[in-house]
Amino acid sequence: MKDVIEIIKTRRSVRNYKEDPVPDEDIKFLIDCARYAPSGSNMQPWSFLVIQNKEVMQKLSEQGKKAMIPLAEKIANNPENEAGFISFLKAKGTNLFYNAPLLVIIFGNKKSVTADWDCAMAAQNMMLAAHSRGIGSCWIGLALPALMDEKILQELGAPHGYKAVAPLIFGYPQGKTATTIPERIEPEVKWLR
Ligand SMILES: Cc1cc2nc3c(=O)[nH]c(=O)nc-3n(C[C@H](O)[C@H](O)[C@H](O)COP(=O)(O)O)c2cc1C
Repeated sequence: MKDVIEIIKTRRSVRNYKEDPVPDEDIKFLIDCARYAPSGSNMQPWSFLVIQNKEVMQKLSEQGKKAMIPLAEKIANNPENEAGFISFLKAKGTNLFYNAPLLVIIFGNKKSVTADWDCAMAAQNMMLAAHSRGIGSCWIGLALPALMDEKILQELGAPHGYKAVAPLIFGYPQGKTATTIPERIEPEVKWLR
């Protein structure tokens, strides 16, 4: 087992995947790790939808792009970046899930006021656990606008009374994982003693 600090520091979002499926045993392991995340009042307000079907993911990617484009066009605070982003969304070949073999959507119970944070913690557990087994991952926030559509949720068989919080893709990284970000910046830290 690798050192937890090494796992935290070497995890990167993966956007290029091999076709090989993630074995069910590993998917169960990731969900088991997710449920050890802390949650407000220990409500554990999460539910997991495991999608391994390529056509379903392809369709959701198209629905996601369609839902995202008008939002992206509205938030044009940086025209240069925005233009690149919009053309990425509009490109025929763009798959929001990078053709990964697995999508797990973490849903949060609407009755829980801390569900968003709880599900984000569960998501981080899954991504770190995946990395510890050589499985890459990436949070796909761009899929969220489509996942707010009741009709799409019904088609997917999403749980009732829950909202989509964390769409996560998983799979085996293809080639070297490139990062789109520069090195981590120094955060502002204030100390009160
Ligand atoms: C809430 C959230 C939403 C994200 N949405 C996307 C996304 O839609 N597509 C994508 O390629 N990466 C997405 N990412 C991944 C970030 O771009 C990535 O975490 C960030 O650039 C830092 O890189 P690293 O994960 O490799 O450390 C998302 C990450 C978070 C936490």
